[in-house]
This record gives sequence, structure tokens and C-alpha cells, in this order.
Amino acid sequence: MNEVRVNGKRLWERIEELGRIGAVLGPNGERGCARLALTDEDRQGRDLVVSWMTDLGLDVSIDGIGNVVAAMTGRDPSAAPVMVGSHIDTVRTGGRFDGNLGVLGGLEVIETLLALPADLRPRRGVSVAFFTDEEGARFAPDMLGSLVYVGAMSVEDALDVLDADGVRLGDELNAIGYAGSMPCPAADAPHAYVELHVEQGPVLEDSGVTIGVVTGVQGISWTELTITGQSAHAGTTPMRLRHDPGYVAAAINVGVRELASEIGGSQVATVGRCEFRPNLVNVVPSTVTMTVDLRNTDEDQLRRAEAGFAALCNDLAASEGVTIERRTLARFEPVSFDDQTVDLVESTAQRLGFSTLRMPSGAGHDAQMLARICPTAMVFVPSVNGLSHNIAEYTSPGDVTAGADVLLNVVLALANQP
Ligand code: HGY
Ligand code: MN
Ligand code: MN
Repeated sequence: MNEVRVNGKRLWERIEELGRIGAVLGPNGERGCARLALTDEDRQGRDLVVSWMTDLGLDVSIDGIGNVVAAMTGRDPSAAPVMVGSHIDTVRTGGRFDGNLGVLGGLEVIETLLALPADLRPRRGVSVAFFTDEEGARFAPDMLGSLVYVGAMSVEDALDVLDADGVRLGDELNAIGYAGSMPCPAADAPHAYVELHVEQGPVLEDSGVTIGVVTGVQGISWTELTITGQSAHAGTTPMRLRHDPGYVAAAINVGVRELASEIGGSQVATVGRCEFRPNLVNVVPSTVTMTVDLRNTDEDQLRRAEAGFAALCNDLAASEGVTIERRTLARFEPVSFDDQTVDLVESTAQRLGFSTLRMPSGAGHDAQMLARICPTAMVFVPSVNGLSHNIAEYTSPGDVTAGADVLLNVVLALANQP
């Protein structure tokens, strides 16, 4: 059978329309998005995507953590569906493509399948999902909604997560009207899950390759530190008498960067959040709250990084005379995707005439959670200048369409599997 193709224009228009909700405009024409999980912008984005789902006549369900799943039936309603999807929440300086491409690409796949002649309708149904709070930028951990969906976090614990201002996730979910009735975890596992996503890094662009065949996701370790010292006058307090959490925070930032260089390979380390209190020019801070994000494709190396980070904290606490309270925000081991499904992504992309490159994902994704309950794989498309979690994030219309064409044909093959 000739390959089927998506309507790239229709997909691009939906990406642009969703991108106008929570739009963040930059000085050089950048058009990003700010739709932090469970904010009113997130609600508006959800409402728009759900309206597209219902316009297609899909069966839309919402579960107890606000995950939304919309399904089309196949020729055999008793067969487990193939699921596609991702997230539509963004970081505060996010892009129009991170997560959104996977959800809208999945919706485009379903709209294309619905238009096929009845005898070409796939055996299995196909569903498209957006999961709550994939970013974890407001409510940790990241991939929270899909973690609950697969049963790896109770919905009760998830609903009680607080953001940095002490606001409860469950209260925000109620406030935006997405506390659904479908039970968590999901009653039945999909036949398979495939997620289309922008690479969010420079590898595909640097290699001149169109399709990333994602082999897995690296391990993630997020820690929040509360460093407590002695607030004092900036002018009168001799350096030898200080207990300065601001200095310790800076030393930890430099230290984890040096640790990542020392470990090498895929090790990365990031201090993304750092808040001084009282945050005044002439006051030695009393406390500093900061986060450290460590990742590696290798679990042993990630543990080595965590051990080095812990030793650094202990040494600095002792030498500066401060206390350091540690809180784990997220900890996920590296995940390898299903070999046969990964092979299918690769062979399908090549059959459609696209260049391919096998690669791990540096970013976390809902796919790493779905991999716990069904065969899972991902399709990457290039990010211009390797940028993401940046309002300059961009992927070309041609690459968007290429990724969705690969997703469509992979889903069609999976949906016709026995
Ligand atoms: O942090 C991540 O990798 C993802 O964007 N949540
Ligand atoms: Mn994402
Ligand atoms: Mn992201």
C-alpha cells in the first residue's frame, strides 16, 4: 500500500493557533509560550485541544490527575489501541513545539486515519493523549501526569504536591476544571505508545538528519537545597566570621559543573533555580533555595555524580558553618525503548525517504513512563540551533510534516498488528 501522508498545513495551523495561547514575544521575532501546568493559560490550551478532539467525534476522557485521552475506534473495538501523545504544558520560557508537536501531530494522525476508506481503517483503535504537568517546572516531579497514568505515583500523592508558593496541585486542577472521573492508573495498557517530539538539542541539525530514532531516555536526578546560614551586615561582618549561604550556593553551582566535566560522557548538571532571602544588596543572605538537575544515560555514572554532589554539600556545610536541607524532586533511571518499535520507526522513516539517526533523549518525556506498561518509541525532528526551553525554539514546517508522516505510518503499522 502506498504510504499515507498527513496534511502538514492543517497541522502547522494548529501549532500556530495553540502557540498563541500564553504567547511570549521576543525582541527578534521569537514566538514562545508560557503555559505552566494548571495555570489559566494551561486551561485555555486544554480547552482548545479538547475542542479539536470533540470536533473530530473522538471519545474524550479525563482522569483524576487531568490527563486527557481522545480515542477513535478501529475495525476491532476489542483490540487494545495504539496511543500517541505528549504534553501541552510548557516551561515559563517555552516554545511552540515542545510537547505540542506530539499532541497535535497525534491529532493529525487520527484525522488522517478517519478520512481513510473504511477498508483501510486500521484494525486497532488509536488514541491521542496529553498528560498533565510533563514539565515539572511548577509541580515536581516532571512527567507527573504520565507517572500517575502508569501507576508509578498515586493520584492522592500527586494531588497533594505543592508548588514553590505552597499552592496545592489538586486545588489548581479543580480550579481549571480538569479533575476528571476516569480512574488512575489507567485500567488498560495501550498496545503500544509512540511520541513525536522536537529533539530540543543540536544533534540532528549538526548531522543534517531529519528523523531521530530515539533509543531511550537518560536518567534524571532533581534535588532542591535549602541552605541556611547567618544573615548579617554586608559591611561590618568580617569574612572569617561569615556563614554565607550565598557563597555556598555559588560554590555548589561551580562544583557540579566541574563534576560534570570530570565525569564526562553524557553527564550534565544544571542549577536552574536559585533564590536568595532577603535578597538585598547590603545583607549577607539568611537562606538560599536552589535546585540541581543531574542527568546521565548511564545509571552508575549518574549515581557517581549524585555521590560527588552530596560530598560537595557536606564539605561546604562544614567549612562555612551552614546547614543544607536536601529534598529530592525527581529521580528516574535511564529507560531503553522497545527494540522492535524502535526498529519500526527507523524502517518506516527510511521507507518514506527520510535520513535517520539513532540517539538517546537528553530530555525527559512521557514516553519514558509509558515504556513501563507497553512497547514504546519516539520520533525526533530537528530543533533549529538546538534550542528549547527558550522562546526561540523552532522547527521548520517541512520537518514538522516529516515527523508527523513517520508517526502516521508507524501508528498504521502498529494498529494493524495482530
Ligand atoms: O526536564 C525535562 O527534561 C522535560 O522537559 N520535562
Ligand atoms: Mn517535552
Ligand atoms: Mn520540556
